[in-house]
Order: sequence, then structure tokens, then C-alpha cells
Amino acid sequence: MFTARQIFAQVQRRGFAASARQSSKVTVLGAAGGIGQPLSLLLKLNPRVSQLALYDIRLAPGVAADIGHINTKSEVRGYDPTPTGLAEALKGAEIVLIPAGVPRKPGMTRDDLFNTNASIVRDLAKAAADHAPEANILIISNPVNSTVPITAEVFKSKGVYNPKRLFGVTTLDVVRASRFISQLKGTDPANENITVVGGHSGQTIVPLLSQSGYSLEGQKLDDYVYRVQFGGDEVVKAKDGAGSATLSMAMAGARFAESLLKAAQGQKNVIEPTFVDSPLYKDRGVEYFASNVELGPNGVEKIHPVGKITDYEQKLLDQCLTDLSGNIAKGINFVKENP
Ligand code: NAD
Ligand code: LMR
Repeated sequence: MFTARQIFAQVQRRGFAASARQSSKVTVLGAAGGIGQPLSLLLKLNPRVSQLALYDIRLAPGVAADIGHINTKSEVRGYDPTPTGLAEALKGAEIVLIPAGVPRKPGMTRDDLFNTNASIVRDLAKAAADHAPEANILIISNPVNSTVPITAEVFKSKGVYNPKRLFGVTTLDVVRASRFISQLKGTDPANENITVVGGHSGQTIVPLLSQSGYSLEGQKLDDYVYRVQFGGDEVVKAKDGAGSATLSMAMAGARFAESLLKAAQGQKNVIEPTFVDSPLYKDRGVEYFASNVELGPNGVEKIHPVGKITDYEQKLLDQCLTDLSGNIAKGINFVKENP
């Protein structure tokens, strides 16, 4: 039996959810790429999205025309790099996903992408700061450990930085960690949720298997950790020069966007791992760090600490923090030297 107050609260919640749903414009910058296309497809299938704005330096109107025929309600528009195209794509966006930039080839690290992608992300961040300063900005372009600080510096320089609205998308690391443990243990990966903290490249990716109730020992543990840390390389090698993970990344990006929309629409306890401006290791010179983050209507609601870890995991974390501080400083310095 509900009281009148409970029924009123429920109606209010529903009303909020409906109005939030009507106004959920999502923008993808780099929408015609390997990630951009399947990501845009998955967003078109999401009933929480009402408008989908697809921008790229090439082919975005074609992708939009194609996806726009899918019989879900959202309106899809494609934007070319005309003088107003990017601004129009961004105006009114609640979420801006950025997978624009070049992917790795075999033999490259993510840091090798810095020279090309740093300026792409800086310029898109400038446009986002001008035309969608209050949007949630989701950075996919690599190296994420540096492109997130680049975006933050651009927003700071324009006086619109809100640390609660900037996210490096590290969801794919958790997706992989869950899939890989299920392959070892013969479980359903959909029920696995392995905590992964740190950053998004090599040794900055730190899976905390001890927190999942599983234990692996010796070589098996080393192999598992290596596979999570270098899962991206498996795909780069298998694609043999044609790029890096696109389809699994599209799924991970769509999952993160869905979580943000759910949280914005009033759902509680929405928790995703993500690389954010974080207090956890600032005393060790690390300004940004990925850990589980509770999402809410204002973006970051609560940053969860790393929690209890084993000595083995502490060693991984120490290495991670050393590498991360260098990656972060590189991003910050890039914007200082190339505003
Ligand atoms: P891709 O080359 O297939 O697509 C990139 C797209 O970006 C292209 O369509 C290109 O035209 C567009 N682009 C380039 N400059 C642009 C600009 N200034 N404005 C708008 N669009 C622009 O590459 P991809 O496979 O889609 O990968 C994109 C990025 O995502 C890479 O940097 C890759 O390393 C990264 N990535 C990140 C993760 C992650 O977990 N965060 C996972 C996979 C890939
Ligand atoms: C990944 O983890 O798959 C991405 O960061 C792409 C890459 O370069 O490995």
C-alpha cells in the first residue's frame, strides 16, 4: 500500500525520467570511424537517447543517413566540418563521446599516438568547452591517460572546467577482465564484475582480482594480469595493421553512456569504473585515476577508494602510479606549450 506522498514522489520521478529522456542529446565526435560507427548504432538503439548528433571530418552525414533509417524514435543528424557543423553538433548535448583520432598499428604503444591525437582532442575539447560547457565529456581517444588531462586543461583555460563531468572511458578494461576470468573459471561473464583501477595503458591497468572472491596463484595470476593489461595488443596484432579494438569498444562506450543517462534520469547506485580527476593519489602526484565511480545527475557523485588489496596488487599499483604521473604531466604540458 503506497501513501499519497510515495505516489506523488513516484509520479515526480517518472515525470523527471520522461522529461530527461526527451532532452537527452548525445553527440559523437569521430562518428564515422571504426568505433564511431558501431557506437552510433548502439546509441540509436538506446531509447534513452532522443537526439543523436554525428560529427566527423569525413562521412558523418552518410553514417547518419544510414543509422537514421532504424525504427527507433531518436532523431539522427550528421555534421561535416563546415564553419558551423561542429558547433551545431555540440549545442545542447548532454553527453559528448570522443573517439576521434588514429588507432595503433602493431609495434606501437598508445603513447605513440600522442603526437597525432593530442591536437585532435585539444581542438575538439575547445569546441566542446565553447558550445557544450555543461555536457558530460567522455574521452575514448588514446592515450586516454594524457587526453583526459588535455581536455581538463582546455576547459580550465576557458573557465568552464567541471571535474564531475569529465570521464576517461576505461570500461573496456573491466569488460575484458570479466570476460577473461569467466574463460578461466567457466562462469557466465555477464555475472562477473572485476574491479580494475589505474589508467588505460599497459602497466597502468591494474585488475584487482582479490576483490572479486577469486584467487589465482603464480604464473596463472601473472598471465591473467598480463592479458588484462595488454588485451588491446591482442586485438591490434590480430587486426594486423588495420587498427585496434572497435566493436568491443563501441559496446563499452555505449554501456558507459547508458549508465550516465540512467544516473541522470534518477537511478541510484549506478557505478562504473572511469578515469577522472580524483583525490585518491594526488598526494603521490597523480591527478587523475580510474576507480569505481558512482554516477549521478551531476556526473561524478562519489569516487570509491581502491580498498583492500594484496601485496602483489600493491606492487602493480605502485608501478601504475609511476607511469601515470608521467602520462598525465605530458598531457598538461602539451596544452601549456600548445594552447
Ligand atoms: P578510426 O581511424 O577508425 O576512426 C577515427 C575517426 O576519427 C575517423 O573517422 C576520423 O575521420 C575521425 N577524426 C579524425 N580527426 C578528427 C577530428 N579532428 N574531428 C572529428 N573526427 C576526426 O579509429 P578508431 O579505431 O575508431 O579509434 C579511435 C580512437 O579510439 C583511437 O585513438 C584508439 O586508440 C582509441 N581507442 C580507445 C579505446 C579505449 O578503451 N578508450 C579503445 C579502442 C580504441
Ligand atoms: C584498447 O584497449 O583496445 C584500446 O585502447 C586500443 C588499443 O590501442 O589497444
